[in-house]
Amino acid sequence: MRILKAKDYLEMSRKAANLIAAQVILKPDCVLGLATGSTPIGLYQQLIQGYQQGNLDFSQVKTANLDEYKGLTRENDQSYYYFMHQNLFKSINVKEENTNIPDGTVADSANECARYDEIIRTLGGVDLQLLGLGHNGHIGFNEPADSFAKGTHCVDLTKSTIEANKRFFASADDVPRQAYTMGIQTIMNARKILVVVNGEAKADIVQKAFFGPVTPQVPASILQFHPDVTLVGDEAALSKINL
Ligand code: F6R
Repeated sequence: MRILKAKDYLEMSRKAANLIAAQVILKPDCVLGLATGSTPIGLYQQLIQGYQQGNLDFSQVKTANLDEYKGLTRENDQSYYYFMHQNLFKSINVKEENTNIPDGTVADSANECARYDEIIRTLGGVDLQLLGLGHNGHIGFNEPADSFAKGTHCVDLTKSTIEANKRFFASADDVPRQAYTMGIQTIMNARKILVVVNGEAKADIVQKAFFGPVTPQVPASILQFHPDVTLVGDEAALSKINL
């Protein structure tokens, strides 16, 4: 695993965006696995700048997002569809038909999960998967569990995730209780993985996930077995590991 230390959030965002930019330049029709949450917003801004300055072309890029809340429509400003369009897609030249996000409005979980896995398979898998890290070690919405889930599945969100995400909703009661997420196996099948972390609140989980035992109770710990992981973090998030 490569660990890149940045002095602050802006530098973390720049470094991570440079790695994604390199992927797009080297393989213009690559498949990018994308994440939502607060951590990647800065790197998405950097990618937008790269596009606006004429350095990046997303016209052949395909994307597959990690997850989506179940029950939220695309128009809901808390849906991940909305997030991706607001924070990235509407400002770059990626084609709408080349972007993929689980459809939170499909009630039949088995159908939607099978559809999404098939999309990723048809795309030929993910070249570079971007991940944020939950405070409990979740990646996508793969929450701590007794085993690692494989493909796309519907999860019940844990209390800690509902707590962490309630800041985006009027109250904790408004946070959806379920989500569709890519499974651990799909994530592990990505050719390259890029994890971004910032802030002191992530320092403990960074230490546990990347230097503790590999266990489904800390889903991100499985990344220790991936052959090509780059962790980009600011000093605060990396403060509990020895570099
Ligand atoms: C979102 C996702 C989540 C977040 C994680 C960290 O698509 O997959 O696993 O990456 O909850 O979120 P932030 O970045 O808000 O700390």
